[in-house]
Amino acid sequence: MPIDPYAWIEKSLATIRSANWYRSVQAIASRPGPAIRLEGRSVINFASNDYLGLAGSDRLILAATNATQKYGTGTTGSRLITGHRPLHRELELAIARLKKTDDALVFSSGYLANIGTIAALVGKRDLIIGDRYNHSSLKNGAILSGATVKEYLHCDIRDLTTKLQECRDQYRRCLILSDSVFSMDGDICPLPELLAIAEEFSCMLLVDEAHATGIFGATGAGCAEHFGLVGKPLIQMGTLSKALGSLGGYVAGTAPLIDFLRNRAPSWIYTTGLSPGDTAAALEAIAIIQEEPERRTSLWQNVDYLKQLLAESLPSGFNLLPSDSPISCLQMSDADAVLEAGRKLKEAGLFVGAVRPPTVPTSRIRIAVMATHEPIHCEQLVKALHCL
Ligand SMILES: Cc1ncc(COP(=O)(O)O)c(C=O)c1O
Repeated sequence: MPIDPYAWIEKSLATIRSANWYRSVQAIASRPGPAIRLEGRSVINFASNDYLGLAGSDRLILAATNATQKYGTGTTGSRLITGHRPLHRELELAIARLKKTDDALVFSSGYLANIGTIAALVGKRDLIIGDRYNHSSLKNGAILSGATVKEYLHCDIRDLTTKLQECRDQYRRCLILSDSVFSMDGDICPLPELLAIAEEFSCMLLVDEAHATGIFGATGAGCAEHFGLVGKPLIQMGTLSKALGSLGGYVAGTAPLIDFLRNRAPSWIYTTGLSPGDTAAALEAIAIIQEEPERRTSLWQNVDYLKQLLAESLPSGFNLLPSDSPISCLQMSDADAVLEAGRKLKEAGLFVGAVRPPTVPTSRIRIAVMATHEPIHCEQLVKALHCL
């Protein structure tokens, strides 16, 4: 009797369940926003990456609707083979203007932007060295590239320097990878120091601005702007799916870099272009970021207020991780505790992220603040955390 070649899947699922690592989705039956309908219940939403509250805005919806009417729902193929829409190029030029780079390239997701860019830039004879808390798309891009992959301790410039001193000269090119805002921690990378190290050891530096674009910097251009590093030799990657409220990813940088990626990034060349609706929504979001800086002001006021409430009285059983962003994480003892806390908070009308290994090394409640939250939302959250 031949062995069922798929039988291992059930076994593997059972192991995932017994470790409390099993994941499932919850259905939202309303527009994105600070208050949503989740599984038939009205809840205050602290689980979204829609930091500026744009994903449910009338302006983005109208832009997406108009573009869909004009250009249809899909782009019907790779931009190189089937042609793109004028909107794609407009979006790329708008991103380049926001980032003050020569040019930009829009991918169909942030994940695709990272894996394609990394695989295009380095190969077998090269070295990638990345922060150990980097996003999955950076880590998997590194593996796919075929380069030798090493990790340095989280935000630890000394460890990065030691590792480069040990082995940089054994490789042709070297690419340093880091999130700018760490999505499951909330802290930010020491970008000026990373840039100095990259220059000293002749390395390229790719910074993932997924959780910084639209939020950090005087004009919302991200951490590169926040740290005064505009115009420096950086590869800036980001996503259109968080503060920009749409879908898609981008890389911004020099004209030769972007031209090279257009010719060499497989996840851009061999995939269908971003839909007209998503493209138009992202373009509108960039206009709003520039026209309405008060959204960023409201966001940071809310972030400060929640942090103040948590600092005044941290609910027992939690360890508040250091954060410089709208993301606050409350570390808990184990996956069981985090699942239970998430469930009880939902019963109390609050939706938060309950994040567990293997996504993160330790279990935690992830709280993401939006510009559109009211002070009372933050107060309700902290009160509910105290009642757990
Ligand atoms: C740091 C980081 N990089 C990349 C991505 C991938 O972006 P996208 O959701 O657009 O694929 C994400 C989002 O999940 C992220 O948090």
